Amino acid sequence: MAIRNILTYPNPLLHRVSEPIQQFDIELAHLAQDMVETMKHANGIGLAAPQIGILKRLIVVQVPDEEGHLGPLYTVCNPVVTQTEGEAKIEEGCLSVPGLGVEVDRAFEIILEGQNLDGSAFRMEADGLLSICFQHEIDHLDGKLLVNYVSSVKRELYRKEVIKKVQLEQKDEKVQL
Ligand code: NI
Repeated sequence: MAIRNILTYPNPLLHRVSEPIQQFDIELAHLAQDMVETMKHANGIGLAAPQIGILKRLIVVQVPDEEGHLGPLYTVCNPVVTQTEGEAKIEEGCLSVPGLGVEVDRAFEIILEGQNLDGSAFRMEADGLLSICFQHEIDHLDGKLLVNYVSSVKRELYRKEVIKKVQLEQKDEKVQL
């Protein structure tokens, strides 16, 4: 198992549409394990494979309950929302879009279908934070990031901020040499 590097905006891979998983093999299981480790290491509650540069439709999700205890870990291949009910909105953050909080219109309750790591059928109902998290991760599989939900003006400001930060970091590195 290994902690992988999490790609951040504006890496173009994050805007690509991921491919459906067709082979449910040991390689896929290892990828899922790495994603879980990477998510936990980054204190995230969800991660999609394209965030580590793998354009496959695989997500891992583990959200805390109201008391802060971690709930079950979900690993879903080829996830699809097949039914929605109600509306929900919270300020979402994303490991691939650091420093940006965005309120996105989501469904409060969903039925999520997909496959387990062995290829068997996966189906569950989710609501609240878990539901929002699944919807956020599926967005990643479709190349959609939080920056896609803000105005072009806000997106441009964020892009400039990111570039400035990268330049500053590079400067810092030079000083240390
Ligand atoms: Ni994200």
